[in-house]
Amino acid sequence: MADFEPKIVAFVCNWCTYAGADLTGTSRIKYAPNVKIIRFPCTGRIDFMLLLKAFANGADGVIVSGCHPNDCHYSTGNFHARRRWMVFRRLLEFTGIDSRRITWSWVSAAEGAKWAQLVNATVEEVRALGPYKAYHDLAGKATEKEVTHG
Ligand code: FES
Repeated sequence: MADFEPKIVAFVCNWCTYAGADLTGTSRIKYAPNVKIIRFPCTGRIDFMLLLKAFANGADGVIVSGCHPNDCHYSTGNFHARRRWMVFRRLLEFTGIDSRRITWSWVSAAEGAKWAQLVNATVEEVRALGPYKAYHDLAGKATEKEVTHG
């Protein structure tokens, strides 16, 4: 487990967090390379089922980040996303995904350093949790059942 490198998928809004992550790069701030960024127009457009798909496809952790409250470029998209997150968290408990594998944050276009800290902290938290294998274990059992029961 010492050489475990967590795979993190970040769902971010275009106008704040994506620009903030870009600033991290242009400011030459170093941070963990474990993150793959998926850009959305707004956090309000993020379908939270995509988070489950990320886990199903091998992610060990997920970041969701957008504009700070009252800074959303579509006015209330981030409030809608936050409300959906509150409901989605209960679904996580049901599915058995540890909610510590998902980091929710606000990062503005001027917060390149915050983005780096967020990614580094998430990588360390997920590293401590270990690889996410529950989905694959369950999928494997389901396939075994199909094979044995025809
Ligand atoms: Fe950034 Fe809505 S545009 S959260």
